[in-house]
Amino acid sequence: MCGIVGYIGSRTAYPILIKGLQRLEYRGYDSAGIALVDNGKAFIHKCRGKVRDLEQIVKGKNISGSIGIGHTRWATHGVPNDVNAHPHRSMNGKFVVVHNGIIENYSHIRTLLVEKGYKFESQTDTEVLANLIEDIYMSAQCDAESAIRTALQKVVGAYGLAIICTDEPEKLFGTRKGSPLVLGMGNGEYFLASDATPIVEYTDKMLYINDEELVVATPKGIRLTNIYEEVDKKIDVTTVDMKLDNIDKGSFPHYMLKEIHEQPNTIADTFRGRLLADQHQIFLGGISDVLPRLARARRIIIVACGTSYYAGLVGEYLIEEYARINVEVEYASEFRYRNPVITSEDVIIAISQSGETADTLAAIRMAKQKGALILGICNVVGSSIPRETDAGIYTHAGPEIGVASTKAFTAQTVVLTMMALLLGKKRGEISEELYNSLIEDLATVPATISRILADEEKVREIAERYKGATNALYLGRGVLYPVALEGALKLKEISYIHAEGYPAAEMKHGPIALIDNLMPVFVLATKDKYYEKVVNNIQEVKARQGQVIAVVTSGDTVIRKMADYVIEIPQVDEPFTPLLAVVPLQLFSYYVAVMRGCNVDQPRNLAKSVTVE
Ligand code: F6R
Repeated sequence: MCGIVGYIGSRTAYPILIKGLQRLEYRGYDSAGIALVDNGKAFIHKCRGKVRDLEQIVKGKNISGSIGIGHTRWATHGVPNDVNAHPHRSMNGKFVVVHNGIIENYSHIRTLLVEKGYKFESQTDTEVLANLIEDIYMSAQCDAESAIRTALQKVVGAYGLAIICTDEPEKLFGTRKGSPLVLGMGNGEYFLASDATPIVEYTDKMLYINDEELVVATPKGIRLTNIYEEVDKKIDVTTVDMKLDNIDKGSFPHYMLKEIHEQPNTIADTFRGRLLADQHQIFLGGISDVLPRLARARRIIIVACGTSYYAGLVGEYLIEEYARINVEVEYASEFRYRNPVITSEDVIIAISQSGETADTLAAIRMAKQKGALILGICNVVGSSIPRETDAGIYTHAGPEIGVASTKAFTAQTVVLTMMALLLGKKRGEISEELYNSLIEDLATVPATISRILADEEKVREIAERYKGATNALYLGRGVLYPVALEGALKLKEISYIHAEGYPAAEMKHGPIALIDNLMPVFVLATKDKYYEKVVNNIQEVKARQGQVIAVVTSGDTVIRKMADYVIEIPQVDEPFTPLLAVVPLQLFSYYVAVMRGCNVDQPRNLAKSVTVE
């Protein structure tokens, strides 16, 4: 959600912090701020709005100092305004804090502090924490590290924190619980951030901070401890393979468009070393040790949120079809609180682009306690979910910066497809012949998506026609039903048009009442076992003057005569159609949003990586 950045070293911190915040702005963007320490004094600059607004307000102000912290916010406690923006300073100015997460018992702590005479400027839980640390520091007359440690022991909730203490200006403190934090290790300098994107420009050596760890960085070195004990912990440095052009827009006007276009390459990256088409083999190294247990599973439960949940629904169709294992797909937020019946014969698969989604993380923790095998399908290497699962598969789609998920969906779907085929083979549920031919066909998907992308102009024309719509319906059946849900989600997220996804056959049980001559209805109508039935649904929409945009198999002449617009996608085996059919829907949402003047990469109220409940 929020983005945190921090720097300590010999360079001027300000440009590093600002650039870092720009890179992290996709995590939250309703306000931004920085604090810089110069000659033992902290200078805080913050405002409602974007990082570019922050750059304006610091003009002419003191921005020197080689230690500092910064924040880009997605509001939880308190409306987005200048006062609630981070950093927050403690009442006597000893501590300055930026925070990602929610302190759940902040109200109780605030009351205690008010009784002690503390006054608060903002409505945030973060200011409460800054004052709690200061109160302990001043009353116990201890050092800053001990005060932070003691304060965190009193806190209930989630936090990623960067903290500076003006009495100890040569130290940068970082700690986390439930919200990600990474320390970049430079030469005599350290970079703290919510993820690696602002750091890779300076170093590829990262220390991923674990929950309840506290790092203290000085230009001379770092110290890592647990918040409960002062014993030094081993520093486990990870070398991150992330290139700068992975996190730049390149020649594209928006990240979202870039990421849609990257899909032929990202899917090829997901395949790499796993889909060995010429040998007719699938090798999923990340789960090879647990494959026998997975293949014996009584049930697979997929837990995820949003777009990742929809990828999970595709997985359900494919795993049940090919591996004949019972699959359930659950919204992580519901699953975690439902006291579900789980045994050690169950396998849980958590799907998450960010690997940090709070509900998904909580769901796997709960299932782990009940003895299930926990697997992950995640994109962000080193994030929390992969670190808490027994095994898993990285999607390798590269950083997804656009808030609306696109390439992550296709990468997740590809992983689930490979998993379904591999399990089917291992369990003897699919013949060698079918397995081989599906593998060969799957390998052609990246090139096929490139062909769909080459028809982008057609989708742009359709977007032009429907950009003024107020509602839209997306219909699909079988493996394309989750794609209908995903298409509708993309449209609402970035263009703010109300859209619904439905199984096509459900239309007559209610949504048909909405159809009139203004209503665009996307129908996913490829040549599969549902084709004739979906054609009937198109007739039903047309009989009510609805506008039909049909996604069809290339060469379809029947639907062409009925629909207002057709978008052709090449013929592939049925299980792979989601990977193709979703692409024009992504493009449609993108162009409609651009034409409506929406901020495509930073849609209102949303943020990437939902690290709070
Ligand atoms: C949709 C979108 C969200 C995420 C959801 C889960 O475009 O971005 O719905 O899919 O918040 O996020 P991850 O996959 O990071 O767990």
